[in-house]
Amino acid sequence: MSISTSPALRLRGLHKTYANGVQALKGIDLEVNRGEFFGLLGPNGAGKSTIIGIVTSLINRSGGSIEVFGINTDEDLEGAKRLIGVVPQEININQFEQPLRIVAQQAGYYGIPWREARERAGECLRWMGLWDKRTAMSRTLSGGMKRRLMIARALVHGPRLLILDEPTAGVDIEIRRATWSLLEEINDAGTTIILTTHYLEEAEALCKKIAIIDNGRIVKDTDTRSLLRQLVTETFVLDPMQPLERAPTLPGFATRLREDGSIEVDIEKGVGLNELFHALDDAHIQISSMRNKANRLEELFLRLVDESKGRAASAPEPNEVTP
Ligand SMILES: Nc1ncnc2c1ncn2[C@@H]1O[C@H](COP(=O)(O)OP(=O)(O)OP(=O)(O)O)[C@@H](O)[C@H]1O
Ligand SMILES: [Mg+2]
Repeated sequence: MSISTSPALRLRGLHKTYANGVQALKGIDLEVNRGEFFGLLGPNGAGKSTIIGIVTSLINRSGGSIEVFGINTDEDLEGAKRLIGVVPQEININQFEQPLRIVAQQAGYYGIPWREARERAGECLRWMGLWDKRTAMSRTLSGGMKRRLMIARALVHGPRLLILDEPTAGVDIEIRRATWSLLEEINDAGTTIILTTHYLEEAEALCKKIAIIDNGRIVKDTDTRSLLRQLVTETFVLDPMQPLERAPTLPGFATRLREDGSIEVDIEKGVGLNELFHALDDAHIQISSMRNKANRLEELFLRLVDESKGRAASAPEPNEVTP
């Protein structure tokens, strides 16, 4: 396939067994199109950072192949690396260096002359809202600022694919949203983005496509909207006027009593709320308020992971490939 039409990233049969015997990846096939905003979701230990480490050649793979915009990393590793910018999960900036120097030095690693490197570094810092901090000691930056500094550093050589490993982990909702807008801007400017996240609402808000990974395997690879369409139930939280001692029996609805005395009710798609209100009436339960339980994607995610665990338990492990 020609370089001009090949996907931004193509992984084929990626395997990783760590030295301690942990099989972190058990055959990952993935394609991320140019210009896409792609989310990699999965619980702790699923293998997300391992994938990123392998794509950015910080971790050796045990098997499989990687192509970045049609460049096979076995044929031209430096050429492929030049197209990628990466923001790692752990903060790894030199805390005793100034942001401007950190970002400019990174440009230097790509052979960009010092004067241009400083110019570019300044532009990236401005873009990330860190211009005022350019000569501060990095140690004095807040957690959110350090993350934005890492984004600036990842962008300085003009990568076509930006990979971020949990870019908003541990930052407050305001900074998270500000980071989202920055990432959307970067994507709008033509850079393909792949991010990993635990915040499912982050994936829902940003990513057009999502792959769910669990235990070293992809359990779902689809576009976000059709993923959400698969939801068969919606959960509502109801606050009763009188405290209840146990979950009420409402014919046709699964109910659970929560610790705070409110009730959770699962409603199947297509069942109207009227039917729920009738059932509550029949059970003589009065409700003072009700809300849709946030994060529908979260429920779907848990269900998919559960399903894949069921499948993995009944299927034998395929033979591992080691080159
Ligand atoms: N250097 C290592 N040596 C041995 N095992 C490792 C190493 N790094 C990761 N693992 C194991 O590989 C598996 C995948 O880890 P990985 O860091 O890729 O998960 P993750 O999806 O990024 O998790 P998290 O969401 O917690 O960041 C885990 O079982 C982990 O313990
Ligand atoms: Mg990780």
